[in-house]
Amino acid sequence: MGNVYVLDHPLIQHKLTYIRSKNTGTKEFRELVDEVSGLMAFEITRDLPLAETTTETPVTSATTKTLSGKKLGIVPILRAGLGMVDGIINLIPAAKVGHVGLYRDPETLKPHEYYIKLPSDIEERELIVVDPMLATGGSANDAIHSLKKRGATNIKLMCLVGAPEGVELVKKEHPDVDIYLAALDEKLNDHGYIVPGLGDAGDRLFGTK
Ligand code: PRP
Ligand code: URA
Repeated sequence: MGNVYVLDHPLIQHKLTYIRSKNTGTKEFRELVDEVSGLMAFEITRDLPLAETTTETPVTSATTKTLSGKKLGIVPILRAGLGMVDGIINLIPAAKVGHVGLYRDPETLKPHEYYIKLPSDIEERELIVVDPMLATGGSANDAIHSLKKRGATNIKLMCLVGAPEGVELVKKEHPDVDIYLAALDEKLNDHGYIVPGLGDAGDRLFGTK
């Protein structure tokens, strides 16, 4: 069964407080999402395998380490997932980025896929699907199904805020996928928004409301 990890690093928790605040404007919101995404990526990549190599320093020859495992892929769920990409690829510039476009119908809350473009070798990559919000879980669930249908076998899901409903759905449908959150919130409201949450992540990132 996939595990759920809430990343409780003090810097992540501190910055998440300001991301949640309704008084945080678009510029600062975007910068904070970027920073928290980098910090979360730092935490969840701590088990990446290393191999020993030899490096000539200005002083001597040293045994050193470089990353050696599968190559990484970052897959943002459009739109809001885009806000999490730069913070991660600043740390892991060799990662390739795939895109899955999904929007959630405001009435039915069901996701609709409108775009997909992935690295050609996704079956060989360790993928991190990113989206700030895991609400009903419909979008993340569909995105992960889409990736698996195209050959992906090694997937992690990283979201800022999750609701119990979304976590349960992804755990049930994708028991092989570990879920990483900055916070697991209380519930969904009648409009499918996470409570207390942070509002509409896409609108807050792109200033569309
Ligand atoms: C939001 C959010 C997730 C989805 C979460 O996207 O970014 O993708 O809702 O809800 P769910 O877990 O119930 O599926 P939205 O559909 O608002 O699209 P946007 O990113 O384009 O604003
Ligand atoms: N999508 C968002 O952007 N926010 C929520 O709380 C739920 C879905």
